[in-house]
Amino acid sequence: MMRWRGAMLDISRHYFDAAFIKKTLSSLAIFDYNTLHLHLTDDQGWRLESKVFPLLHEVGSIRKQSQNNHGLLEPTYDGKEHSGYLTQDDVREIVSHANSLGMQVIPEINIPGHTGALLAAYPQFGINKAAVEVSGRWGISDYLLRPFPETFEFLEKVFQEVATLFPSEYIHVGGDESLIDNWLKDPEVVAWMKNQDFLTTKDVFIYFMREVEKIIKGLGKKMVTWDDAFAFDPEQATQATVMSWRGDAIAQIALDHGREVIQGPVFPTYFDYSQEVSESEPLAIGGPVTLDDVLAFIPLPGVTGVQFQLWSEYIQSPVHAEYMMWPRAAALAYRCWGKGEDFESYFAERKAKLDELGVTIRDQNPLKRLNIAHLGIGEYYRGFDTDQMMQTLEKSAIAGEVAEFN
Ligand code: ACM
Repeated sequence: MMRWRGAMLDISRHYFDAAFIKKTLSSLAIFDYNTLHLHLTDDQGWRLESKVFPLLHEVGSIRKQSQNNHGLLEPTYDGKEHSGYLTQDDVREIVSHANSLGMQVIPEINIPGHTGALLAAYPQFGINKAAVEVSGRWGISDYLLRPFPETFEFLEKVFQEVATLFPSEYIHVGGDESLIDNWLKDPEVVAWMKNQDFLTTKDVFIYFMREVEKIIKGLGKKMVTWDDAFAFDPEQATQATVMSWRGDAIAQIALDHGREVIQGPVFPTYFDYSQEVSESEPLAIGGPVTLDDVLAFIPLPGVTGVQFQLWSEYIQSPVHAEYMMWPRAAALAYRCWGKGEDFESYFAERKAKLDELGVTIRDQNPLKRLNIAHLGIGEYYRGFDTDQMMQTLEKSAIAGEVAEFN
């Protein structure tokens, strides 16, 4: 079996509590998943208690309101506060439950972009030390950490605390979708760049991630990043494990450069994309990623693992999260490490266990689907076409750029 059999749950955009995370671990274990990657921080929320920097959860876990329409539209908001974070006791419970199932839990603290919630708590580490609010809007934001010694001293303490809570072999440090030219908007960063002989913001990014790599290595951990951090400059990038989300080509380049690769391409492993393009589905980022698409996935030879992603901008309830996960999570397991004659019998043999846990499964028969209209955060909108999205992403990955969506 593949070494990394993964699932990612985004608890930043919408918070999911320890009870749901433990239930999810139990359901994933039925299908021999061994890794749960928790996306703990982003612009929209910091979801982990910190005793060292308490403002991270005290300020960073609360946003005033949330966008309740698609990210491509002029935002409208629900006017409701959204909050929540895992206490350190929650984490110990989650890790202990995972251990009992033979699974590991990988924490992701996303830097240097996707740091709106961190900067709402500690703005002194961001460009121009600007005041920031925890964001209620979906999409990529301008927030960026400064590449200065005080930032790395702060991050070292943050990662130290994270490492004491999560015994995993790996720590994920994000590195995706960082709008690095924003460094040029901070005169102190520009002056520092001149001083360091850094000509481009890519040089700064490489430096930043290398500093973080030293921290993670110093903690005896292996670092994982999204493929962006590698693709910016494959020759200069850190040695971190590459989690490729922008297609096979960048994954293959990472393999050719001797990196460990975890494949989690938008198509067909982003389970926040709808399983059918239909107004009877809840609002999703786009689609489709069908069950058959998942069953047809062929991992590249030589990868360390495969992982599905459940981003949660458009998903705010456990029932909805499960509706998006199942049966696609079972299909990915069958395709990548499962045994048996065919998917139907593989799934049928294990379905009773999911039922015992009370897991919601999207039925292939439309007549048997639960009434799902109430699950979404807002009105149905077509959103991104999966094929077009992949073309955009693949191009941006090869060019070493952040993808532009609109
Ligand atoms: C990603 O979807 N930004 C990894």
